Amino acid sequence: MARITLRQLLDHAAEHDYGVPAFNINNMEQGLAIMEAAAAVDAPVIIQASRGARSYANDIMLSKMIEALEEMHPQIPLCLHQDHGNEEATCATALQYGFTSVMMDGSLKADAKTAADYDYNVDITSRVVEMAHWIGASVEGELGVLGSLEHGGGEQEDGHGVEGKVSHDQLLTDPDQAVEFVRATKVDALAIAMGTSHGAYKFSRQPDGDILAMNVVEEIHRRLPNTHLVMHGSSSVPQELQDAFNQFGGEMPQTWGVPVEEIVRGIRHGVRKVNIDTDCRLAMTAAFRKVATRTRSEFDPRKFLKPAMDAMRDLCRERFELFGTAGHASKIKVISLSEMAKRYRSGALDPRIGSMANAAE
Ligand code: G3H
Ligand code: 13P
Ligand code: ZN
Repeated sequence: MARITLRQLLDHAAEHDYGVPAFNINNMEQGLAIMEAAAAVDAPVIIQASRGARSYANDIMLSKMIEALEEMHPQIPLCLHQDHGNEEATCATALQYGFTSVMMDGSLKADAKTAADYDYNVDITSRVVEMAHWIGASVEGELGVLGSLEHGGGEQEDGHGVEGKVSHDQLLTDPDQAVEFVRATKVDALAIAMGTSHGAYKFSRQPDGDILAMNVVEEIHRRLPNTHLVMHGSSSVPQELQDAFNQFGGEMPQTWGVPVEEIVRGIRHGVRKVNIDTDCRLAMTAAFRKVATRTRSEFDPRKFLKPAMDAMRDLCRERFELFGTAGHASKIKVISLSEMAKRYRSGALDPRIGSMANAAE
């Protein structure tokens, strides 16, 4: 079994200059697809579950499913991560169910819709860090509010996050504040806001520097060269998947996601965890539509789910290869949670707020 913490995995990724996609799952087919892709290219894995996924699949089912995936692929280090934890209890119960990492998203209040202030964020994130580190688990925090720079905040149709307009400043993480936040909370990874948003409708044109602020990633990495950065809303919404979806009766208006080259650029500047959900959903549902349209008499769900799984597997594999994750699973010797806990207690894993001179540019 190889249940790994986010911290150990991202430390390895930083040491060897690669990024790790974090794929969301809700069901068995998505889990099988990710692990099949990982096994094919020897990639370590981050599987993340949102609160929605936990209530859809049920915590017991989800945790047993992950155990099964581990047993099927014992050679693949697997981090199970809570995506967008909204309060302490969400993170605590995730840990009870075997998650080795949690995100405490204190950029929003517990309703996951209202932008929170800095002090609230530091407070709640620090409490979760303290709790998680006692047992050796990792914590991702978020500073800045995810949302579209084009629309001034949360106007995505299918995504979720802040509701209504927020200021331009809130939509871009402030690099000075990021240094303070990491120092104050001791998070293991930091999600930053730089113009990405959840869901399919991120940009209404090919993104340039005005609406996708890669310079913010670079600036934060210059000030925090030892902190693992996380890019949320990192689906690329590939044109071929939009076309496949629409070809078989789907109605998705033309949209643009985050180009893979920009993610790769981010990885060169400290991005270690890359969150992807929408692309997997789209790959699967485009495959469902194809079967439903081409074979209208079909009613065996497996005939829909198998091509959907294959489509998701191919997408995951491509991301493992492009982000440089491939080839690293077998190089990692998993450190137990109890050993990680000892290291936190000794201070060995405290954030190192480095200077530019130490930056791995
Ligand atoms: O954070 C956004 C993820 O895509 C999860 O979405 O809450 O619909 O499962 P969800
Ligand atoms: P996408 O909607 O771009 O896939 O982002 C997913 C995400 O950030 C999950 O936390
Ligand atoms: Zn997210």
